Amino acid sequence: MRTYAEEHFRTEEAFMRLHAYPGLKDHLYQHAAFFRRLGELENDLMIFGPSQRLADRALDITQDWLIDHIADEDMLYALHVKDGARKLQD
Ligand SMILES: [Fe+2]
Ligand SMILES: [Fe+2]
Repeated sequence: MRTYAEEHFRTEEAFMRLHAYPGLKDHLYQHAAFFRRLGELENDLMIFGPSQRLADRALDITQDWLIDHIADEDMLYALHVKDGARKLQD
């Protein structure tokens, strides 16, 4: 999950910079918050070992990212890029 997220976020952030996305700073904060939650989860897994509670937290983090972040926040920058492309055509 970490490896995938690192590559995904790096690619996404580069794309946002390329398109001068005005919400970049807030978006970077959200990516950092995701890594913070993931780091806490990894830490607790190392200390306490696997448990249903940790599995539920992993599921919560994944759902927040896949459903809330991608469906809402990532869509905002997709609309920004789409809007920019339309302006170039006009
Ligand atoms: Fe994304
Ligand atoms: Fe994102």
